[in-house]
Amino acid sequence: MFKIAIANNKGGVGKTTSAFNMASYYAKKNFKVLVIDMDSQGNLSDCFISPENINETLYDSFKNKNIKNSIHIIDDSLHIVPADADLERCNFDFVSEIGRETLLKRLLLSVENDYDLCIIDTSPAISLLTLNALSAVDKVYIPLGSGLFEIKGVQLLNEAIENIKNSVNFNLEIGGIFVTNHLATTNLAKNVLDYANNIFENKMLNTVIRRNIQLAESISFKESIFTYKPNSTGADDYASLCEEILSREVIVLG
Ligand SMILES: Nc1ncnc2c1ncn2[C@@H]1O[C@H](COP(=O)(O)OP(=O)(O)OP(=O)(O)O)[C@@H](O)[C@H]1O
Ligand SMILES: [Mg+2]
Repeated sequence: MFKIAIANNKGGVGKTTSAFNMASYYAKKNFKVLVIDMDSQGNLSDCFISPENINETLYDSFKNKNIKNSIHIIDDSLHIVPADADLERCNFDFVSEIGRETLLKRLLLSVENDYDLCIIDTSPAISLLTLNALSAVDKVYIPLGSGLFEIKGVQLLNEAIENIKNSVNFNLEIGGIFVTNHLATTNLAKNVLDYANNIFENKMLNTVIRRNIQLAESISFKESIFTYKPNSTGADDYASLCEEILSREVIVLG
């Protein structure tokens, strides 16, 4: 199971939108995908299931040391471990536990052979939960909003990635950074893209996710952009992103 986290400590940059559409794209391509919502806002869970249909959540997995009971089946190719506000308690409940950064990594061992790909959505904070995501994955993919402040914000995440890499997850790498919500017509957006390409060099992906209101609409209907508006720029951009990631990673199908 190849594991990726979508992370950026800046809020509202398209982490959840990216996790949702990437998971939907790969599932449509018949990858067996496990989605994990590591944000107590539960936004990614809302994309897939209504709260009344949620039984156990990721918080229960941490508490009971069992992830299988929290897996909800969306279809044959797509399963999700949902989150709700309870998840926030992990940042306190497990803070003095030995190995607290690797709780998720250890939970995932029991499903390692059940999926091809695991996609983890994280919260806009470098919390114990986000450190757990970074400890568990092979690669981090970073969506970058279209403002100059956003680029500076990535430095903090970079430090967290380095710390995790030097302690509990030696193989962790940034898989790629991609600009989201891009408005090609503004000078600011063009400058940000040039600046990011200069700073992050080979980490920058070629794909840019353009601003597309249908991406926001589709989520409110609990539909991926690929079923909601398959001919939109949003669908084109997320398909390109997913294909570009496939061209960079070795994902072994089970
Ligand atoms: N390319 C895009 N075009 C238009 N709207 C977008 C695009 N990407 C994301 N959005 C919208 O921007 C808002 C924030 O996106 P999203 O929730 O994916 O960000 P996030 O990084 O997960 O936020 P948070 O940090 O709160 O978890 C949402 O309303 C979403 O629909
Ligand atoms: Mg989010």
